Amino acid sequence: MVKKILITGACGFIGYHLTSLLQNEYKVIGIDSLNSAYDPKLKELRLKNLNKYESFEFFNVNLSEKNELGKISTSISNVETVFHLGARAGVRQSYLEPEKYIEDNTTASTNLAFISKELGVKKFIIASTSSIYGDTGTQMATEDVDELTDPPSIYAATKQFGETMVKNILSTDEQIIQIPRFFTVYGPFGRPDMSILRFIHWIENGEEVLIYGDGEQKRSFTYISDIVSGLSKLMDCEESGTFNFGSNKTWSINNVIEKIENKLESKAKISIKERAFRDVDIVLPNLEKSQLKLGWTPLVDLDTGLDETITWYKKYKEELRNVKFKYEYEK
Ligand code: UGA
Repeated sequence: MVKKILITGACGFIGYHLTSLLQNEYKVIGIDSLNSAYDPKLKELRLKNLNKYESFEFFNVNLSEKNELGKISTSISNVETVFHLGARAGVRQSYLEPEKYIEDNTTASTNLAFISKELGVKKFIIASTSSIYGDTGTQMATEDVDELTDPPSIYAATKQFGETMVKNILSTDEQIIQIPRFFTVYGPFGRPDMSILRFIHWIENGEEVLIYGDGEQKRSFTYISDIVSGLSKLMDCEESGTFNFGSNKTWSINNVIEKIENKLESKAKISIKERAFRDVDIVLPNLEKSQLKLGWTPLVDLDTGLDETITWYKKYKEELRNVKFKYEYEK
């Protein structure tokens, strides 16, 4: 019999790619609330593609609303693995709507953990973020060592509390809890609130490119195919734990913009804005554990990843024309 898995945030960036990868092998139950954390047109576009898969079944559910869980309890009754990827994920946006971040990252995770416990789900995988490590400076952030007790954003704090709740609700000898910790993920069907996709869109269309600060802040940009390959490796690992999924090289925002300018043969119209509140300078992962336990290592370098993303962007340019890449407060 085909095994059943549950993917929350199925219409989100990572959920979409994971569903597309695993639908061949598993029956995938996808959940998403299609909320307006960023332009839902992109989520609808992803859903339209996912609905083409026969093994995919979709439920529009807001997991933070307990009374909505009834809609899915029968369908998820014999799920073996839960990938809880649904979340509010904007670092800067979290200061504007803190209560939504508490609902979607903490309450929703708590509700899902309780229902998974009731149903005897064997493995619960909850997506996490490098933001919990804060600024890593010259060090590499190591799992279970470098997490901050006061992470530098409401987003990171609510994700961290979500993790804590899940561990408290589900930790038994029978249940495996895995926490993949992602580092600035980019690629086709990416998020329009994140740097790389915005920069491609703005440079290609000759629009103003917003840089928050001097652009020298660095990130470990990680390509989406590396992320989903890491997640699929977790399916075969029977050990609980946290695993960094990031790139072993950091690039500054200015480096990334220059690369995109060269690839698109177009100059960015830079507009410097005030540095985002508590924005970190550099984020670098220690990847030893993921390599050792999962045999995972990132394979796609930034140039290749940017080329793939630009190719996708050009292919989908028509569909993306009406997607909003700036929030009202940024205009
Ligand atoms: C990203 C994601 O938004 C989080 O969901 C994720 O959890 C986190 O990475 C992670 O590593 O886990 P962030 O580092 O803010 O967070 O990623 P970007 O939106 O790509 O921003 C990177 C840098 O570019 C920040 O310093 C930001 O201020 C800057 N930026 C972003 C701009 O200068 N202009 C923009 O239009 C967008």
